[in-house]
Amino acid sequence: MRSSVSEASVRTPQHVAIIMDGNGRWAKQQGKVRMEGHRQGSSRVRDVVEWALDAGVKQVSLYAFSTENWKRPKLEVTALMTLLATLLPLEISRMNEKGARLLTLGDLSKLPWLARKAIQKTKHGTAQNKKIDLILCLNYGGQQEIVDGVQDFCRAWHAQGCSEDQLNMLSVDQFASYLPRKDVLPVDLLIRTGGERRISNFHLWDAAYAELYFTDCLWPDFSREDLQLALDDFAGRERRFGQTSEQVQGMESE
Ligand code: FPP
Repeated sequence: MRSSVSEASVRTPQHVAIIMDGNGRWAKQQGKVRMEGHRQGSSRVRDVVEWALDAGVKQVSLYAFSTENWKRPKLEVTALMTLLATLLPLEISRMNEKGARLLTLGDLSKLPWLARKAIQKTKHGTAQNKKIDLILCLNYGGQQEIVDGVQDFCRAWHAQGCSEDQLNMLSVDQFASYLPRKDVLPVDLLIRTGGERRISNFHLWDAAYAELYFTDCLWPDFSREDLQLALDDFAGRERRFGQTSEQVQGMESE
């Protein structure tokens, strides 16, 4: 049986996740310090959300700072946090104009106070928007997210006096409800710029069936055309979710 979901909506990813890699190399190419690459990269954040909105995407999540990025030179970490703290609140009115809501993934408690305050202000100022979500992943790691979910699950089941039988019946959907976030859709398309071909602990749970797209383009150079190339590539993929090609194409009903 053919799905009743329209062809167009199947062909447009609802959730696009991006690993914004290549800021440092971009800066080096330009003879600039690494931070200039991050600064230039941060202007692409606003662009990509607006291009995605035009394309009909509902959520864009961006890997802005991983649990491993704390290992970077202290100066670079401080500069990235300062960039967040200064730029985010400046985007509130533009985000409201476009209907973009800010969400976050990751443990914000470890971020400097100024960055947390800016995030809170921007989240609060955009909470009513419904057209697109910008999900900033900050101090985020896919493995940590799953561990946090396991901890919460164990706490809840311990408190409820969990039996072995109940444990054996735990489903994927039930466990997912313990992951420390809400409103996040499964990742349909995961893009990594900068030429590396790995997912670096990003969205390990939500990207279970994501289509992966790698481009050599460095993040600060990422353009509307580059996003469109990724969306076109996605539109040409056959998403089978474990089924056969014949089943997906409606040639077999069972
Ligand atoms: C990876 O490039 C990039 C990051 C670790 C940081 C990404 C952060 C931004 C683009 C700024 C976000 C800002 C806001 C306001 C949301 P890299 O430094 O590893 O590049 P390289 O591999 O070329 O060295």
